[in-house]
This record gives sequence, C-alpha cells and structure tokens, in this order.
Amino acid sequence: MTILRVNQISKTYRAQQKNIQALNAVSLSIGKKEFVSVIGPSGCGKSTLLNIIAGIERPDQGDILYMDQSVTGKTGLFGYMPQNDVLMPWRTVLDNVILGLELKGVPKGEARQNAEHYLESFGLIGFQHKYPGSLSGGMRQRANFLRTVLPEHPLLLLDEPFGKLDAITRRHMQKWLMKRWEELQVPVLLITHDIDEALFLSDRIYMMSSRPGSIKKMITVPFDRPRNSEIEYSLTFMELKREITGLLL
Ligand SMILES: Nc1ncnc2c1ncn2[C@@H]1O[C@H](COP(=O)(O)OP(=O)(O)OP(=O)(O)O)[C@@H](O)[C@H]1O
Ligand SMILES: [Mg+2]
Repeated sequence: MTILRVNQISKTYRAQQKNIQALNAVSLSIGKKEFVSVIGPSGCGKSTLLNIIAGIERPDQGDILYMDQSVTGKTGLFGYMPQNDVLMPWRTVLDNVILGLELKGVPKGEARQNAEHYLESFGLIGFQHKYPGSLSGGMRQRANFLRTVLPEHPLLLLDEPFGKLDAITRRHMQKWLMKRWEELQVPVLLITHDIDEALFLSDRIYMMSSRPGSIKKMITVPFDRPRNSEIEYSLTFMELKREITGLLL
C-alpha cells in the first residue's frame, strides 16, 4: 500500500534574473513499510525534492499526497533531517536532541531520559552537556540524526544523514538505522550519494538524472530481510552496483 505519492513535481528557481530548473516532473511513491532511496548527481534537485515533500518549499507544478490527501506545502507532518546542520547553538547537545520529542509534548525530564539511552550508540557520551560549537562535524550530524529519529514519525525524510561520517562510523549508523527501521517499520525516504548505503538499506532505489532532476530509473533491491553485511559480497549486489554506477556516469 502506497503511503506517500510524489506526483509530477516541477520546480524552477529564479535567481539573479536567471531561471534554474531544479526538478522536472518527478514522480515517486513510498509504501507503508518501505525503505526507499534516491541517488542522483550533485545539484540534480534532491534536497529541493525533500524540501517540497517536507512542505518547506512549494512546487511550481505537481502535488504531494499522503494517504491520498494533498499535503503540498504543509510542514510538520514528517520527520525531516535536512542536509545542513540545524542544531541550535544555544542549546546543549542533549537539549538539541530532545527537541523533536519536546515538540510532541513529551516533558523535558522524560525526553532527556529517553535520549540518554542512545548517546552511547551515537558516540555522543560525554558531549551531551556541551554546546554544538564544540563538536566535530560528524558528531553534529549524529546529533541531528538522533533528533530526527527519536520521536515516532509517520514518515522519515533523511537528506544524506551520514555524509560527513568516516566509513566505520557510517556503517555503524547504517546498521543502527536498519535495525530501528526493522523494529518500527516506519517508511523512509533516504537521499544518498553512497551506492553501497542505498543497496544495503533500501527496498527500492530511484535514480535521478542531472539537473533538471527527473526520475531516470527505479531499481528494486531483492535482498531478504533481516539483512546483514554479507549481502555486499553477493553477485547480485555487485551487479546492481555496476548498473547504478553506469547510470550515474
Ligand atoms: N533557494 C534556491 N535559490 C536558487 N537556486 C537554488 C535554491 N536551492 C537550490 N537551488 C539550485 O537548484 C539546484 C538543485 O539544488 P539541490 O540543493 O536541490 O541539489 P542536490 O541534488 O541536493 O545537490 P547535492 O547533491 O549537492 O546536495 C542547484 O542548481 C541549486 O543551485
Ligand atoms: Mg542536497
């Protein structure tokens, strides 16, 4: 069953008397318990697409349908981790992390207790009472990610959530996300540059063309769940990786 439908979205920016078409008639769908990724070249409109789904920007054409209702231009419905750092410099790391829970009405003490369970997995132990300015880029990204995934959202929109992490931490966070997703079965739309990440995590992958972004191809990832890292050594994984790489070049 489809939960989110992106229907023929087009978007042109007008900057310094020039038109920049970011998206051209993009359509995609996400199922109720599906993990879907989008891969595309830099600047092809991926973040624009996520901003439009999150309601932060409006499309020139097309609609966003959530459970068959138009939600175009509506904010606050989904969990959204934008590509840029959105931590508040005046709040401690812990108080940044609990922001989503607080917005959902969870009392501060309870929200802090809840968040503290995850600090170790997220490599933030010892930094929870510090301010974001004293954290590395990778730590800030993990705090942003934790803030997005802590509250239970009906849909998660993640814009390159692990882009600033080293390979080992990135793999750790991917496994954490996979486990969490397998537990909660919340639909996810993930934007990534990392082909292995998309193949490891997703049920389906949409490939975007260079700007103006349009959907070039949809790839179904056939691995059973629960998954483990072994799939990366399979012939199917290699073949899909080759196909995706070819489409990106
Ligand atoms: N607010 C804006 N005003 C004008 N142009 C914009 C604006 N936001 C994005 N663009 C342009 O739209 C195009 C798509 O940008 P977007 O950030 O969506 O790409 P992206 O696929 O997320 O790139 P990356 O992979 O580098 O994150 C780019 O050419 C960008 O310069
Ligand atoms: Mg982007």
